[in-house]
Amino acid sequence: MSPQWTPQSWRGLPIRQVPGYADEAALNRVEETLRHFPPLVFAGEARRLKARLGDVAAGRAFLLQGGDCAESFAEFHPNNIRDTFKVLLQMAVVLTYGAACPVVKVGRMAGQFAKPRSSETETQNGVTLPSYRGDIINGLDFAAAAREPDPQRMVQAYSQSAATLNLLRAFAQGGYADLHRVHAWNQDFVADSPQGERYRALADRLTETLDFMAACGLTSETTPQIRETEFYTSHEALFLAYEEALTRVDSTTGDWYDCSAHLVWLGDRTRQVDGAHAEFLAGIKNPVGMKCGPSLEPDDLLRLIDKLNPANEPGRLTLITRMGADKVAARLPPLIRAVQREGRQVVWCIDPMHGNTITSSTGYKTRVFDRILDEVHGAFAVHAAEGTHAGGVHFELTGQNVTECLGGGQGLSEAALAQNYLTHCDPRLNASQALELAFEIAEALKRERQQRTGGNGIGAASRLAAAK
Ligand code: PEP
Ligand code: CO
Repeated sequence: MSPQWTPQSWRGLPIRQVPGYADEAALNRVEETLRHFPPLVFAGEARRLKARLGDVAAGRAFLLQGGDCAESFAEFHPNNIRDTFKVLLQMAVVLTYGAACPVVKVGRMAGQFAKPRSSETETQNGVTLPSYRGDIINGLDFAAAAREPDPQRMVQAYSQSAATLNLLRAFAQGGYADLHRVHAWNQDFVADSPQGERYRALADRLTETLDFMAACGLTSETTPQIRETEFYTSHEALFLAYEEALTRVDSTTGDWYDCSAHLVWLGDRTRQVDGAHAEFLAGIKNPVGMKCGPSLEPDDLLRLIDKLNPANEPGRLTLITRMGADKVAARLPPLIRAVQREGRQVVWCIDPMHGNTITSSTGYKTRVFDRILDEVHGAFAVHAAEGTHAGGVHFELTGQNVTECLGGGQGLSEAALAQNYLTHCDPRLNASQALELAFEIAEALKRERQQRTGGNGIGAASRLAAAK
């Protein structure tokens, strides 16, 4: 971070992935408008998430982060928000059981609009237009007018984020997230689908545990931890003009917080140590993430850690590794060893999506369920060998019944991709695929724990008591 960090100090530094606005004055006017809008999150909430992530760094909790690759204006609907929230809660309960520790739930929601692109332009049938950069910047339609960056989209993205967050808060605190209800949804998944049947034994153990807790007087009425949940939001801090406009001084501490989300992360394409994005993230006090792809070298990682977490504060920095199933065994260990050697406190989180994107023979961007699972297992194996805590997982998913990723218990085939392929960017797991992954990961976590403790680990009831 520069000695005189300000929310604007990223300006003037080398920057990648910036949209070209035809009318800079119009952009500036919208930024000024946003500067007067209320913050979306409160600094105290971001601090609480940092503390929770501190527990993850220390091996006392597990992180589940997930949601859309790109939120869109077209898919903005309360049912979509509800269903993504619902599948994340279902996964969290299953993971809690497997990991035997609290699961910190963070959505890629309420602000995940801006997308880095591998090319500035896109060509179709001899016509070249600017690439789509996410609904906060331009439109997906392949038409010149849609692809023109429009600053008013920032206001729409803000308003959609505010409404989404409002509903998420209501769901989290208003009874929708009750553990009994979430467990009942999981029982439906087990009972109603052939792919769920495999996980009946685990679901039955959860039922027994809840019955036992109820017999002990731990019910929704008596225990807020059963009735309510904590849910946080996150997105990639890519579009810095928007992030800057929502960055505010916290009146209780005098520190700067990016109040567009609880956690924001640095993408794999914008993690240059002397670049604008790293500079911006260095000065805000939120918990921050950083994507670590296969091209990241250990020395660069250490320089970035110095910049983003100079005080070595646990929970401040989450490293989201996304190597690809075939590279994780070679690329992850050197990063872990460098971090361990230097004694850096980080959360290690596994993104098994972004290193495993392929194009189907029919031209769809897709991912194969088994490769996704392979990367999770591969990363767990590396962490076990290095003696570090595989602290969390990061997924692109939706509660909708989309057909974007191949495989899983539904056996989704290439031919089926066209049926309900809705994503504006990368392919997402559907609800059933996401839940299956959670069950698979829970089983892996349980095996790992049993190996470590040489037995059953801690009791089921104490695990669930800590579940929420
Ligand atoms: C993303 O998370 O959607 C993304 C673009 O990831 P990465 O920066 O890891 O490529
Ligand atoms: Co993506």
